[in-house]
Amino acid sequence: ICRGFSSSAVRAVVIKHVTIIGGGQMGSGIAQVAASTGHSVTLVDTSEDILKKSVKTIEGSLRRVVKKKFADKPEAGEEYVQKVLKNVSTSSDAGSAAQGTDLVLEAIVENLQVKQDLFSHLDKLAPAHTIFASNTSSLSISDIASSTSRLDRFGGLHFFNPVPMMKLVEVCGTSATSQETFDSLMNFSKELGKTPVSCKDTPGFIVNRLLVPYILEAYHLHERGHGSKEDVDIAMKLGAGYPMGPFELSDYIGLDTIKFILDGWRVMDPNNPSFAPSELLNKLVAEGKLGKKTGEGFYKYK
Ligand code: CAA
Ligand code: NAD
Repeated sequence: ICRGFSSSAVRAVVIKHVTIIGGGQMGSGIAQVAASTGHSVTLVDTSEDILKKSVKTIEGSLRRVVKKKFADKPEAGEEYVQKVLKNVSTSSDAGSAAQGTDLVLEAIVENLQVKQDLFSHLDKLAPAHTIFASNTSSLSISDIASSTSRLDRFGGLHFFNPVPMMKLVEVCGTSATSQETFDSLMNFSKELGKTPVSCKDTPGFIVNRLLVPYILEAYHLHERGHGSKEDVDIAMKLGAGYPMGPFELSDYIGLDTIKFILDGWRVMDPNNPSFAPSELLNKLVAEGKLGKKTGEGFYKYK
């Protein structure tokens, strides 16, 4: 699995077994893609019930993929689905899942303290060669890594929603990430069939630093009474060629995640008008209307 390492640095880890913590929208998507490309995956969440839902999501998404790929051969398609699912096991015990794995990739709630607590716990249990990575949308990788003693084996691996369809992965190395770790994360992204880009450890990396302020501007424009949600979405789709308008996309990302990003960035840059609170966003999150994943956000689903 590992082509030689010392206690302080890892060289060319070939990632075969991946432990993904968080079986929500992102974790289940990453698990699907990793399993589809021949990796063994252990998917971890807080309860067996959530994990059952995660596996159902993976199965549903795989069926969408095979419907096209195996259009004339439904039996071969079914065989493919079962083969991929065999590569996925589940666990509600992150500590034991981190033992004997090459990569621990975290896709849990967008909260620094919760991510630090998780990695600090796993740092004591995972093998020395194991790389840790975060799928954070907005937090500093160095801050998350500071809860561990493996700063050289820690990086950012940022996927996009829906993971099976979106081709990009942002790979982030901090000033302490070793070249070997960075290379391993780049190679892993390519093995998943994605196109990686290299990012600095700056808030939002590349995509979210540009995309999130645009989404927030849409909320402010709407709150000023300058356009309905529907018109803003139609305008950006038909006038700018975006596949989804900012309100639709917010529901797709998850309004809790957007609120975590906005609240965190306001602390970082309090005078930036883009990061001013949005009453509408706060109200929807307080009501548990988190977007597509809960059946309602800016719009209703089902
Ligand atoms: N699993 C498998 N296949 C899926 C899928 C999934 N979860 N979601 C969509 N697809 C497939 C469909 O099966 C369909 O395949 P075919 O063309 O082969 O039939 C194809 O994708 C298109 O789907 P739809 O016809 O249902 O819908 P669409 O054409 O509107 O595409 C979309 C859906 C790909 C999601 C598109 O609307 C899109 O690109 N939206 C923007 C998504 C985006 O910007 N994501 C980034 C969010 S920001 C982020 O992720 C970072 C962060 O940190 C917050
Ligand atoms: P989600 O709410 O769909 O899923 C999060 C999952 O993590 C839930 O199933 C929850 O039960 C689980 N969880 C929470 N704390 C946990 C813990 N301590 N141990 C194990 N499991 C735990 O969220 P998501 O949309 O999948 O986002 C997850 C992460 O990925 C966040 O950091 C988010 O910023 C980032 N991200 C999100 C998107 C997006 O578009 N939604 C895109 C890229 C990155």
